[in-house]
Amino acid sequence: MRIIETIEEMKIFIKQAKAKGLSVGLVPTMGSLHEGHLTLMRQAKKQSDIVVVSIFVNPTQFGPNEDYAKYPRDLSGDSVQAGTAGVDVIFHPQAQEMYPKGYSSFIEIDGITQKLCGLSRPGHFRGVATVVTKLFNIIQPDIAFFGQKDAQQVLVLKRMVSDLNINVVIEIVPIVREKDGLAMSSRNAFLSAEERSAALVLFRSLQLAKQLVARGDVKVEDIRQQVVANIQLEEMAQIDYVEIYSYPLLETMDKMIGKALLALAVRIGKTRLIDNIILEG
Ligand code: PAJ
Repeated sequence: MRIIETIEEMKIFIKQAKAKGLSVGLVPTMGSLHEGHLTLMRQAKKQSDIVVVSIFVNPTQFGPNEDYAKYPRDLSGDSVQAGTAGVDVIFHPQAQEMYPKGYSSFIEIDGITQKLCGLSRPGHFRGVATVVTKLFNIIQPDIAFFGQKDAQQVLVLKRMVSDLNINVVIEIVPIVREKDGLAMSSRNAFLSAEERSAALVLFRSLQLAKQLVARGDVKVEDIRQQVVANIQLEEMAQIDYVEIYSYPLLETMDKMIGKALLALAVRIGKTRLIDNIILEG
């Protein structure tokens, strides 16, 4: 497995792979890899000849008061893990390589970015869309793999690829969870033992909503309120948002008819966690 740090070297590698007729799969990540990321990589290996994983903690998607500086970084541990998942190349640029002095171009997606994480993290999706476009241009993947864990991110990127006619297929990989239900996340490393068990309230609340729908509850606002009440039972939890929207259009809905996305962002202590479930009414 190779680790490539410059855009120029990455482009040469891709040019050579394409000249040989090899297909390229890309898994964009911010590193601190866990089983969720590795599942994306194994899926990529099944569907492409060459797998490139980018590891880049992207400064433009973090707000000024967010955890960019303390976001966990572990390139040597990540390389070992990526190697076992069959990755061919890690693309690991420095921030100045991706955003040199004078950098001024950004991608904005309207509409679906004006809710959920787009509201609570202003500028977040502008940063995500910009870095992912740069990665697509540098690596020119045939297929790019993203996790349903970040449900809104996938919808935003699909919108972008469709709107801007980018030649890439986006594959969605289901949420990978710990045995007890906690969605895997690089930020779980920030949780103390006490916070780790408090964090289970996210998964429990999603399951509660699923049961309510299965029982025949159809009023979206009632379901949302019960989820809010359930999270509030956990003292360490502070709700950022709990929302239910139609899926995949993310439109407001009154009654549970068809597919809906229940998305949560909850702070456990200082750590902000997200999780979601697709409900079917
Ligand atoms: P990061 O949080 O490192 O996640 C990289 C990819 O792994 C994303 O597509 C995310 O949805 C997926 N992922 C994370 N946890 C997962 C889980 N438990 N189950 C399934 N998939 C999971 O998302 C980002 O980085 C960045 O925004 C990025 C797209 C790399 C742009 O900077």
